[in-house]
Amino acid sequence: MSWDPQQYLEFEDHRLRPAIDLLARVPLAAPRTVVDLGCGTGYVTRLLAKRWPDAGIVGIDNSEPMLAKARAACAGLPRVALELRDLAAWTPAAPVDLVFSNAALHWLPDHASLLPRVAGAVAAGGALAVQMPGNFGAPSHTAVADIASSERWRVRLGSAVREAPVASPEQYLRWLAPHCASVDVWETSYLQRLSAREDGEHPVVSFVSGTWLVPFLERLEGDAGARTAFLGDYRERIARAYPAERDGSTLFPFRRVFIVATMRS
Ligand SMILES: C[S@@+](CC[C@H](N)C(=O)[O-])C[C@H]1O[C@@H](n2cnc3c(N)ncnc32)[C@H](O)[C@@H]1O
Repeated sequence: MSWDPQQYLEFEDHRLRPAIDLLARVPLAAPRTVVDLGCGTGYVTRLLAKRWPDAGIVGIDNSEPMLAKARAACAGLPRVALELRDLAAWTPAAPVDLVFSNAALHWLPDHASLLPRVAGAVAAGGALAVQMPGNFGAPSHTAVADIASSERWRVRLGSAVREAPVASPEQYLRWLAPHCASVDVWETSYLQRLSAREDGEHPVVSFVSGTWLVPFLERLEGDAGARTAFLGDYRERIARAYPAERDGSTLFPFRRVFIVATMRS
């Protein structure tokens, strides 16, 4: 997919905060090996290296533009390696002490088998830590599916519509508990307060353009008129669902699901 690191990082604070909250719950003192699945811009990989400077850390992503940003973010960190690979086919050569993944695994299907498989890559006594968005029932996300499935857009965009990829917290607990010593699953809704943008774009449109809209906008690449029209339809829905506050900011509640599982020693 055509990820744009600049667009993604426009809301760096809001995107990084759940990763920091997740990291705070990882109960490992000194993992020797860490893998950051879907490392993107490498900003989270850098946080992992800061917490465990002696660990060998591998960041994996299948977007070259995101990895280019990650290489710059992790320059000067000799124990960080970055690999261009597809997570769908990922299995480590040897079990890993910590598998960490922030805002990436929702791009992969079939979590009932994916999560136990990823947990199976964790070494005895190690941990799996995952954060995924859980906002798929909110207007920011339902509007994308509604518009892409509409008569106007379904021929070009219908195939990009996906079912909500993230399951309930209870499901993750049930899927992982048989394989783990402990499983902690929780959800948090962050009340994100987005500032008005100088260019007048609705900040929720801009926020979602950096993530969930990526596969839709990719299908319209090279057709600026269609892209403008699609974003226009989306903006109209978003402006109704997320009106500006009196001070010009926009409140964008965003639910996220967290998992921290530890393996038996
Ligand atoms: C929303 S970004 C999150 C990046 C980073 N973890 C962070 O928290 O800033 C999602 C990342 O997952 C990557 N990704 C999505 N599907 C992938 C796949 N099948 N294989 C490898 N990387 C994938 C994307 O390229 C993107 O960089």
